[in-house]
Amino acid sequence: KVREILTEVEKKCATPVARLRQVADAMAVEMHAGLASDGGSKLKMLLSYVDNLPTGDENGVFYALDLGGTNFRVLRVLLGGKEGRVAKQEYEEVSIPPHLMLGGSNELFDFIAAALARFVETEGDEFRIPEGRQRELGFTFSFPVKQLSLASGTLIKWTKGFCIEDTVGQDVVVELTKAMERQGLNMRVTALVNDTVGTLAGGRYEDNDVLVAVILGTGTNAAYVERANAIPKWHGLLPKSGDMVINMEWGNFKSSLLPITEYDEALDFESLNPGEQIYEKLISGMYLGEIVRRILLRMAQESSLFGEVVPQKLEIPFILRTPHMSAMHHDSSPDLKIVANKLKDILGIHSTSLKTRRLIVSICDIVAKRGARLAAAGIYGILKKLGRDTLSSPKQRTVVAMDGGLYEHYSIFSECLNNTLNDLLGEEVAGTVVIKLANDGSGVGAALLAASHSQYLER
Ligand code: BG6
Ligand code: GLC
Repeated sequence: KVREILTEVEKKCATPVARLRQVADAMAVEMHAGLASDGGSKLKMLLSYVDNLPTGDENGVFYALDLGGTNFRVLRVLLGGKEGRVAKQEYEEVSIPPHLMLGGSNELFDFIAAALARFVETEGDEFRIPEGRQRELGFTFSFPVKQLSLASGTLIKWTKGFCIEDTVGQDVVVELTKAMERQGLNMRVTALVNDTVGTLAGGRYEDNDVLVAVILGTGTNAAYVERANAIPKWHGLLPKSGDMVINMEWGNFKSSLLPITEYDEALDFESLNPGEQIYEKLISGMYLGEIVRRILLRMAQESSLFGEVVPQKLEIPFILRTPHMSAMHHDSSPDLKIVANKLKDILGIHSTSLKTRRLIVSICDIVAKRGARLAAAGIYGILKKLGRDTLSSPKQRTVVAMDGGLYEHYSIFSECLNNTLNDLLGEEVAGTVVIKLANDGSGVGAALLAASHSQYLER
């Protein structure tokens, strides 16, 4: 019976290359639809109001604040222009207490502002701001936001582990600014960016060929540089650069082409945001371990995988996290000792046969590779939209800036993603596309955008 369930999962999760090509085409179709009109697609294709990416000329001291990944971060950088670049950088990481992710808006923003205020207290002389000037901040807020300018935006909905009703529809810059005032902190938000947009900006600062940024972490998303005249829903003046960075919010992509199982459906149904973020729930770090747990639970219930009684802890949602799954998946010891230890420590399951442990590794493999391959198809879809899936000049080079714990730490996942993307592109073009890990580039990216939109710049 266990084998039967496994075979069925395997079949339902299959992502043959032909199917991935269809997914990529569907992604490109939805991109067009989302650019044509608001509400035209599951893909929001949000305007970021970033029409100029960093050049290297940025200078001065800037702060950044980064909310929405595993950790909340505060950061200050000293930018030294072309010569100095990021001359100095300091940051602090704080984890958000889980109850604040589900509580009230003021409580969350007060917590953030307080952490920022404490961080500002530790500012050394090398980061001194000229007399009479306000400190300026780039705010990386990794959720879908409807922007009408670079320094403002209303929250469309929360995603991932956050659900705070009274923030939805509010301008998050106003909320942050009010909280900073409550802390007695005089700071001005000059740029509000999604983490994908921050990563794109940080990536471009390092490498001129960066056109796309992808996050594969707790959640997943992508941003890329679009031609402003290819955005029918944009009615403003054409920016001088002719470009506009688009935050796709690809996590909300949905298509009948996606290989969805009953485990995914149940996970979605019981999630904080049922019906939403379907692509994200197949791919990202918040969910992969939970999918594996659900498959194991069914095997325990229906075919006594772990003996007569179903292990109690296996019934607890989200107890098996993706880092645990990754550790089991990478176990190369002959008797799968790490798998045995994780089962014991996380799920309270004491003795398992080697055969059972092998089975668990196979489940991790199926779930991780489905996610990685679907993410590769998404990237391929963007490259198609940009015309970078073919060679137009011998010098062509396309760089995808990548960030997020899933890609960084789960190497079977990232290797699979890279191999799949190469297969989709074909050997010749694959040689021109580079995925570059831009670790924590999004904070620096936000600071760079804060700098290029400083109130003290002469325009
Ligand atoms: C960070 C970005 O580097 O990556 C965050 O600055 C982003 O804003 C994060 O959300 C994603 O990583 P994770 O794995 O912590 O969700
Ligand atoms: C979620 C958010 C999105 C963010 C992504 C990665 O999908 O909605 O804004 O970019 O997670 O952090």
